[in-house]
Amino acid sequence: MAESPHTESTLSPSDANWWRQAAVYQIYPRSFADSNGDGLGDLPGVTSRVPYLKALGIDAVWLSPFYPSALADGGYDVDDYRNVDPRLGTLDDFDEMAAALHAAGIRLIVDIVPNHSSNRHVWFQEALAAPKGSPARERYIFRDGRGPNGELPPTDWVGAFGGPGWTQVSDGQWYLHFFTPEQPDFNWDNPEVREDFLTTLRFWADRGVDGFRVDVANLLVKDLPADLPSQAELDAMDRTSGTHPLMDRDEVHEIYAQWRKVFNEYIPPRFAVAEAWVETPERRARYASPEGLGQAFSFDLLEADFDATQFHRIINDNLEQVRLTGSTSTWVFSNHDVTRHATRYGLPPLNGRNVKQGVEWVKAGGPAEDIDLERGLRRAKAATLLMLALPGAAYLYQGEELGLHEVADIPAEQRQDPCFFRGADYNGLGRDGCRVPLPWQADGTSFGFGANGAHLPQPEWFAPYAVSVEEKDPASTLSFYRRALALRHELQGPETLEWDDVDENVLHFVRPGNWHVVTNFGTAPVALPDGEVLLASAEVENGMLSGEATAWIRR
Ligand code: GLC
Repeated sequence: MAESPHTESTLSPSDANWWRQAAVYQIYPRSFADSNGDGLGDLPGVTSRVPYLKALGIDAVWLSPFYPSALADGGYDVDDYRNVDPRLGTLDDFDEMAAALHAAGIRLIVDIVPNHSSNRHVWFQEALAAPKGSPARERYIFRDGRGPNGELPPTDWVGAFGGPGWTQVSDGQWYLHFFTPEQPDFNWDNPEVREDFLTTLRFWADRGVDGFRVDVANLLVKDLPADLPSQAELDAMDRTSGTHPLMDRDEVHEIYAQWRKVFNEYIPPRFAVAEAWVETPERRARYASPEGLGQAFSFDLLEADFDATQFHRIINDNLEQVRLTGSTSTWVFSNHDVTRHATRYGLPPLNGRNVKQGVEWVKAGGPAEDIDLERGLRRAKAATLLMLALPGAAYLYQGEELGLHEVADIPAEQRQDPCFFRGADYNGLGRDGCRVPLPWQADGTSFGFGANGAHLPQPEWFAPYAVSVEEKDPASTLSFYRRALALRHELQGPETLEWDDVDENVLHFVRPGNWHVVTNFGTAPVALPDGEVLLASAEVENGMLSGEATAWIRR
């Protein structure tokens, strides 16, 4: 395989549909590149790596939160929605980064976190200083406690990361937080909250941001009568009818209809993608409506095993859903919340469980003994090559292009993820293992991440995965991703797919332009159809595709 060519972005600046089949690369900014040697990645670090992103051949960057934050939840606890964390840079640095990305033909999507602010946000500080029942408290969800002196929380609700869902303040009232106590939930019935987010959207759109990733888009609207249900009652409630008190309520779409009007004030209209872990593809489709956010993440493939039957069903279901909404499907295997897919696929089948926590991994006794890392990466490359050939948008997470595995052995005292410390309803490792700073070079204090170490410890085994090593190796995972993304640009046409052959081990589909895609989920080699093999994730010998591999063929 030759060194991959530099591909110009084929997307024109006025193209309103650029997102439909974009390859979007997620940057977790604190762990990408550190320009000032403080151990934390920053925005100038991103700017310095734009040539790398361009050579990779992606269409857009999705930047996880870079706002001022105490990092109680990796930046998803936002102090100020319209500023940059001083440790990550300034607004000028942001503008420089946006300009550099745009000059390279790469669009920029920022993360919006509307369900909760941080407890350091000026509004929450005002709420704490203000009395019960005051307008300042009305921007959040404050309630009196139960018990003779209100010493018990209003309900027994458990937060998503474990621990109580309410925290008491000095005058005895309690506030609701779906996540950590440092992430108080906004009251979305409050018009000031609604207005302020419109201001935030315009603020970033005016700065040239092309789109938004909307964090836990399904949680904003809540129905909280005086008499609140217990956790057990909540758990028993239907989550598919749009009437659950806390999640995926139908009224949430009124908010996104308002946001859509703001997006459409711009040329091209600003794009948005919902993060909504909802119960059914039908519920998800509502977030992807053109009158709403326009696109929604599907985590179906991410939760699936490496299994032809599951992949076939999921691909069909998702394509059917977008046919109904007019959106495009999204595909993703890895992000900052889940165990890296190269590692997951080296574990025994998870049947969709514990994707987030890697519990099985811990139970299995750790990576050295029970994970087949080589097999995991082989399957991950096969799955990724299949994904990159599907109609719709492909979301990639920093480091997967290097074939990185999850880092399991981070000492407890160096971990940062609140999931790890709060215990939640699991005993996993939390999410730090996929957030370890990237290796850019095979040596140095932080593998070239920065001049003075990294905020999460990088393992010795990172060295052969370093960009500087993989860049020179035509057989590396990085060269494979570059080649795949470049070819995808050439081959991507109308958003249709036809199945050619489907059995329990092999999926074969065809995209317009005689682009044939064959994935062998089994372990025995299978015969490929005649044609030119454009790219394969593993050996093709005498027309035979090896086990757990994908090939792209032009016929
Ligand atoms: C989303 C983010 C996750 C964060 C949570 C709370 O799920 O992806 O990282 O912890 O929301 O904001």
